[in-house]
Amino acid sequence: MSGDTTESPSVRRLAGVEVAGERVPVSVIGLGSMGAALAGALLTSGHPTTVWNRSPGRAQQLASRGAHHATTVGEALQRSSTVLVCVLDHGAVQDVLAPAAEDLAGRTIVNLTNGTPEEARVTAAWVGEHGSDYLDGGIMAIPPMIGGPEALVLYSGSEDVFGRVEPVLGRLGTSRYLGADPGLASLYDLALLSGMYGMFGGFLHATALAQTGNAAAVEFTSSLLVPWLNAMLSALPELARQIDAGDYRDAGSDLRMQAIGLDNIVRASEAQGVSPVLLTAMQSLVRRRVAEEQGPEDISAVIEILRRHAT
Ligand SMILES: NC(=O)c1ccc[n+]([C@@H]2O[C@H](COP(=O)([O-])OP(=O)(O)OC[C@H]3O[C@@H](n4cnc5c(N)ncnc54)[C@H](OP(=O)(O)O)[C@@H]3O)[C@@H](O)[C@H]2O)c1
Repeated sequence: MSGDTTESPSVRRLAGVEVAGERVPVSVIGLGSMGAALAGALLTSGHPTTVWNRSPGRAQQLASRGAHHATTVGEALQRSSTVLVCVLDHGAVQDVLAPAAEDLAGRTIVNLTNGTPEEARVTAAWVGEHGSDYLDGGIMAIPPMIGGPEALVLYSGSEDVFGRVEPVLGRLGTSRYLGADPGLASLYDLALLSGMYGMFGGFLHATALAQTGNAAAVEFTSSLLVPWLNAMLSALPELARQIDAGDYRDAGSDLRMQAIGLDNIVRASEAQGVSPVLLTAMQSLVRRRVAEEQGPEDISAVIEILRRHAT
C-alpha cells in the first residue's frame, strides 16, 4: 500500500520524538460524536491523524490537538493509506466517498458506520471496484469508552487486511475479528443491539407498570429489577444450549405456563393504563408455539417461530 505521508509538525510535537515515525498516518472521515472520539484516540496514541467532516467546524477541536484538517475527502484519502469512515449511515458513506472515488485506490477503508449486513457487502464491493481494501466494523461502545479496553469493536472482511491494520484498530479499543464476509460485523452488531433494545423495552414496561403502584423508578430499578434481571441472565446459557441442540423439552418452566403469565401481564397492563405493546409481540409468538402442541417446552422453543418469518 502506498500513500502514507509524513506527519505534521504539530503531531510530531504531540507524539514526541521517540513516537513519531513509529505510528502510521490515519485519516478519519466523519467527526460526529463517534468519529471525533476515534480521531481523539488516534491522536492520543501518537498517530499522525488527518480529519475531515462535512461541517468543517467539527474539526477545529481536533486540529487544536494536532490533527491535520483536510479540506476535501480526496485530501484525507491521499494523506493516509488507512482511512476510518464513521458517518451516520451507509447513504452518507456513499455521499462522502463517491465524489472522491478516484482517490480510493491503494487505501484500506475501515467503515465503522452502523448499517445492515447487505449494506456492508455492497459498500465492500463498491470500494473493492475502486482498488481499495475494505473492512467493516461495528462499534459496541459509546464515545467516552473509545481508546480503552472496554470499547469492543467487531470487524469483518479479509483476514489479511485485518491483520495488517489491527495495530491501528487496537488504539480504538478491543478488536474482535469475525470472518471474511464483510456483513458479519454488522450482523453481530445488530444482534447485540437487539439484545440491548429488548432489555430497554423490558425495563421501560416494567417501570411503567410498577409506577402505577406508586413506585419511584430509581428505587424499583435498583432494588428489584436489576437484581431480578441479573438472576434471569444466568438462564440464558441453558436456553442457548437447548437452541443449539434443537431440543427444547428440558422445561423447568413450561411454555404453556409462561403463556398464561404473559396474558396476565398484558391484561394487567391494560387495566392499569399502560400500553402492552412491548409485550404483545412476545405474547403472540408464545401463543403460536403453544398452539403447535409440542408438549412441555422451555421458552427457547419460540425461536422456531421467529425463524419462520417470511421475507
Ligand atoms: N454515538 C454512539 O454512541 C455510537 C455508538 C456506536 C456506534 N455509533 C455509530 O457511529 C456512527 C456515527 O455516529 P455518531 O454518534 O458520530 O453520529 P452523529 O454525532 O450524529 O454524527 C453524524 C456524522 O455523520 C455525518 N453525516 C451525516 N450525514 C452525512 C452526509 N449525507 N454526508 C456527509 N456526512 C454526513 C455528520 O456530518 P455533519 O457534522 O456535517 O452533520 C457527522 O459527522 C453511526 O453509524 C452510529 O450508529 C455511534
